[in-house]
Amino acid sequence: MSKMSYERPAMLRHVVGMMNEMGMPSGLNRCVNIDGVSVEGLIKELGSPLIVFSESAIRKKHAELKRAFELRYPKVQIAWSYKTNYLQAICAIMHQEGSWAEVVSEHEYEIARRLGIEGSKIIYNGPYKPEQSLLTAAKEGAIINIDSLSEVYFLEKIAAAIGRQIEIGMRINMDTGMYPAWDRFGSNLESGQAYETAKRIVSGGRLKLVSLHAHIGTFILEPKFYLQEAMSMCAFASRLKDEFAVTLKYFDIGGGFASRNRLKSSYLPTNYMAPSFDAYAEHICKIVLEAFPHDKLPTLILETGRALVDEAGYLITTVGAAKRLPSGVRALILDAGVNLMVTSFWYDMEMLPVQDRGSFLEDHVIYGPLCMQIDVVRDYIKLPPLDRGDNLVVRPFGAYNTSQWTQFIRMRPPVVMIGENGEVEVIRKGEDISYLQEKEVLPERLRIHDEQMKKIKKNGEKGEKEKK
Ligand SMILES: Cc1ncc(COP(=O)(O)O)c(C=O)c1O
Repeated sequence: MSKMSYERPAMLRHVVGMMNEMGMPSGLNRCVNIDGVSVEGLIKELGSPLIVFSESAIRKKHAELKRAFELRYPKVQIAWSYKTNYLQAICAIMHQEGSWAEVVSEHEYEIARRLGIEGSKIIYNGPYKPEQSLLTAAKEGAIINIDSLSEVYFLEKIAAAIGRQIEIGMRINMDTGMYPAWDRFGSNLESGQAYETAKRIVSGGRLKLVSLHAHIGTFILEPKFYLQEAMSMCAFASRLKDEFAVTLKYFDIGGGFASRNRLKSSYLPTNYMAPSFDAYAEHICKIVLEAFPHDKLPTLILETGRALVDEAGYLITTVGAAKRLPSGVRALILDAGVNLMVTSFWYDMEMLPVQDRGSFLEDHVIYGPLCMQIDVVRDYIKLPPLDRGDNLVVRPFGAYNTSQWTQFIRMRPPVVMIGENGEVEVIRKGEDISYLQEKEVLPERLRIHDEQMKKIKKNGEKGEKEKK
């Protein structure tokens, strides 16, 4: 007869949860389907954990963002922030919707090129750009936003080598009233560093300054910081025009719009707090539209990342074990932890049961499968008494997790996309041991041969005898 599992009894106050906006106790909401596709069916077919993206959710968000800005400014270009999620299928959808690519590394650049994006539609950002990558980007006409003077120096050498002037942008940082300010990227406006950098670029003659770029932070819940950003950038653009006759082709305000995720520190879910795209647009577009002559408007570039893709992503997980901690709190151990939910370090993502396990809710702590103390994905959540084999759907999951995930202890699971007609397509296969070891080389001299194995065995047996 198999042994029954035992859970130490605990005295608990009966909790049925607080009401949410639907009049339901929070914690009782379930997620049975994603875009009409059964979660249990997906697990049966593809296993757990499983990452799911909704194509229609991505397209809908992209259209919303585009509409909000184009309504208020006539020349808008979205440039998909590759680092947020560079799965090819995701990038391809963004490009089909009209996005350019915003990249910060050589491999992101290469992914965009392989997807057929021309160099002139790639924005190359970042604080570290190896020389070879600058050469490729310059030759292919990418918009390179220089981060520091040393890049000016390299690019001037490249311009001399390829025998033509290179069009570039420069990243600036500024005080928008948001603290801490992101001042480690680009040149600072208030200190005069940005002005000095621009002067150096213009006087060198080999580079042509055609773009101003700033990215003031991420998950910005207050649109007025963008108002300040737009005002400071416009004032700087006007100075560049007056003093150096610089005409901007691009006015790039970076990314940073909040998704509907929930920051750990926030009391309310971001559903109630995240500004709409319209609210952000309202604070930015008017300023830029007024700052330039109507026939010389620069293209307004948005490098939106998380706000476009976060809600389109889901992680399906399975409870591996339930146990009670010495404190009396119930814990669940899932088959996915911080290895996949990297953003759980700063978000309290929603975790919705799939099966109906009644309406009694209890405080839980949620752990991942890693044999590491840090693997805590929620330190507090009310859930029904789930047990081994039950499932949870984690959302919003789509931003940054599938680019920051690690292969530590557990390999990365498959990723599927639910298409607009409900079709389920694998967009990344689950990893296996051959993938894990593909790039490894075991030197021949370290291979364990039969003779050595015999010796190891013999030594072991000798030790056992001595112990007896
Ligand atoms: C230069 C740049 N642009 C765009 C983004 C995308 O930001 P977000 O995901 O907050 O929209 C980032 C992210 O840090 C960034 O560094």
